Amino acid sequence: MQQQNTLPIEIKRIESSKINQVDFENLTFGNVFTDYMLSCDYVDGKWQNPVIEPYGTITISPGARVFHYGQAIFEGMKAYRDEQDDVWLFRPEENFIRFNKSSVRLAIPEVPREVFFEGLQALLNLDKHWCPKGYGNSLYIRPFVFGNQVGVSAAPSSNYKFMILLSPVNAYYKGDVKVLIAENYSRAANGGVGAAKAAGNYGAQFYPTNLAKEKGFDQIIWTDDCSHQYLEEAGTMNVFFRINDTLITAPTSDRILDGVTRKSIIDLAQRDGLAVEVRKITVTELIDAAKNKSLKEIFGAGTAAVISPVSGFGFKEDYFDLPSLEDSFAKRMKKSLLDIQHNKAEDTFNWTYKV
Ligand code: COI
Repeated sequence: MQQQNTLPIEIKRIESSKINQVDFENLTFGNVFTDYMLSCDYVDGKWQNPVIEPYGTITISPGARVFHYGQAIFEGMKAYRDEQDDVWLFRPEENFIRFNKSSVRLAIPEVPREVFFEGLQALLNLDKHWCPKGYGNSLYIRPFVFGNQVGVSAAPSSNYKFMILLSPVNAYYKGDVKVLIAENYSRAANGGVGAAKAAGNYGAQFYPTNLAKEKGFDQIIWTDDCSHQYLEEAGTMNVFFRINDTLITAPTSDRILDGVTRKSIIDLAQRDGLAVEVRKITVTELIDAAKNKSLKEIFGAGTAAVISPVSGFGFKEDYFDLPSLEDSFAKRMKKSLLDIQHNKAEDTFNWTYKV
């Protein structure tokens, strides 16, 4: 992450902080924002006028292209507080790289490193005291960019706005989730935007997820768009399967997000001597494993939830319960990750960055 200050950032101060109005014991994911936000505009072919100002509404023309063609991408990253009250970012470089990969796929100009990192550092300097105490709690960081040129011709926008918001959070999902394997709907297609954090990827999940909820499920396990045989992601997360003592996750592709939590789990599991297979896994293999009881666990992995254990899954008319394990890989991996994120365990991978 960038250390030196080369970016002239205008700072407009708040009159008074709203932090005392926040119930930090009962935070629901992403509903509370800190005192400040950062924005920077892309105009006349360059990023300019970075500004930090009080969090609040912004004015956008209804003709802005983001509303018509969905040219918008985002990232999700987190800062954690340790017991000495220091605040740490987790693998911010990965989010920066993916932010710009997503931008390129959506024909959005890349955000320069100094705008992303010096902007984030300046914002955290003002608001890092909002990062909640407590194991598992964090300050969720939401960088995003959208096309805001006015005009509805179907072409890339010439103007963009990059912003960063901060939101103190507790856990994203509460408890174990029931998932339904997708038979018809798809999250992503070959050659599409599934590997990007395009805003539309998430909006397009809502309708099939609502249908699954009507059947009593919390999330969908997305399958490939051609055969619906390959298990790819779970809800907004990457997905892991434990068959006997082997952890299996699908390889990244056009259709699968290169998740930071996903790759951290693979590294941690390998470090701990667990068998990890990054390979395609089919619905048939999963159902056979559930039937012969070799399927021990399924869990989702993403920045927001960190790890989200699955209690059972549905496929067509069948439902398969998963055992509740005392020493689950999900619990073990979550603890290993959170210990590093909260600076309670040695960061042998050099993943954390002190704010
Ligand atoms: C993540 O967990 O990485 C996400 O992107 C979740 C977000 C859509 C809330």
